[in-house]
Amino acid sequence: MELEKKSELKTTILNLVKEYYFAIHSRKSFLPGKTKISYAGRVYNEKEIVNLVDSALDFWLTAGPYAKKFESKMTKFFGTKKFYLVNSGSSANLIMVSALRSAQFKDQLSPGDEIITPSVTFPTTLTPIIQNRLIPVFVDCEIGTYNIAPVHIEDAVSSKTKAILVPHTLGNPCNMDVIMDIAKRKNLLVLEDACDALGATYDGKLVGTFGSMASLSFYPAHHITMGEGGGIIVNDPRFVKIALSIRDWGRDCCCEPGQNNTCGKRFDGQFGDLPFGYDHKYVYSNLGYNLKVTDMQAAIGLAQFEKLERFVEARRENFNFYYENLKPFEDKLVLPRWEEKANPSWFGFPITVRKGLNINTLIKYLEDAKIETRKVFAGNILKQPGFKGIEHRVYGELMNTNIIMERTFFIGVYPDLTKEMREFVVNKFKSFLSKI
Ligand SMILES: Cc1ncc(COP(=O)(O)O)c(C=O)c1O
Repeated sequence: MELEKKSELKTTILNLVKEYYFAIHSRKSFLPGKTKISYAGRVYNEKEIVNLVDSALDFWLTAGPYAKKFESKMTKFFGTKKFYLVNSGSSANLIMVSALRSAQFKDQLSPGDEIITPSVTFPTTLTPIIQNRLIPVFVDCEIGTYNIAPVHIEDAVSSKTKAILVPHTLGNPCNMDVIMDIAKRKNLLVLEDACDALGATYDGKLVGTFGSMASLSFYPAHHITMGEGGGIIVNDPRFVKIALSIRDWGRDCCCEPGQNNTCGKRFDGQFGDLPFGYDHKYVYSNLGYNLKVTDMQAAIGLAQFEKLERFVEARRENFNFYYENLKPFEDKLVLPRWEEKANPSWFGFPITVRKGLNINTLIKYLEDAKIETRKVFAGNILKQPGFKGIEHRVYGELMNTNIIMERTFFIGVYPDLTKEMREFVVNKFKSFLSKI
């Protein structure tokens, strides 16, 4: 009887939630020049809110049934060893890099070892390298792809280099043939920051499945969202246990929250210098954190996952529209470029203005028309105030990096853009560019 009542109440509440969504959250009409055309944003319907409320009613709170389902869907999607949900893409990067410094990793990196990474980057792609007392080696990027320049990677390798950490910038896959070949020949680990690139492929293979580990972000600007959230794809079996441990306080035990003694040896182990039989639940084999999500975040993510294919397609379609319509202006704008084997899952539409065109004037013109623009993240990260004085090495010149910092920006391609919005954006570009 009680179960029946519970289910009846739940149905009533969830039906009201749907009603609320259609009454309150439905699409507002577009007023050209007045309605903001965002660079990105959450795209959802009643399904996400229903899942969220359902999870709230269950009041599980910590990662639970929804998180399990989401992790299992992602593991299958990537065809990987493990997928762990974490609370942000930044946390996923922190876990990946910290895992290389784990004493449980046979080839544990030492302080002073080097990681090759591009100089145009997102801050939290780089910060974990510094925090782990490793040395970033900066390599210049390419204008057009905005990724690490593949031609320079091999020459940047020194006897101290142990890994390559590459973001697939704005959803555009790096040249994975070159990167994986160098890694193999020089015995380097590869980590992918795929935060911007969910669904992108290189040579028919999903990005995030090339390296030992890869990170994803589920922040609202990204392909799917759970508000705050991220994921770590573990392809290399050596990191399956380590990555989980670092996510979960650094502990050795892998019981789920609320579970006890799944190994059957909770009080029967000798762990290092700890007294014999020390409770395994309180044995820490890594320098870890608590980087887990709540089940409510995962509930939203699960509804988003079902829409992933459509979202990626819509992003590609919006990208193609801008590409075709801005092509006549290639004398003034450098349009994006991608590797022959790449099928990007675009995060944005990047544009570099050619010499003679003032980027600030163009950005102001677009922003005044309520068209949002963004820079390619930190630009030359070495010029950022918080990164002054970091220990690092630079390979060669960072010429393109500086050009990207000065003359590149991007506009949005996220799935909520309408035909009207896209046409408005293109017309604004046309009217600006035809005047100069
Ligand atoms: C390439 C890249 N890496 C990492 C992150 C960090 O992700 P999060 O905001 O989820 O921490 C972002 C965020 O946009 C990103 O673009």
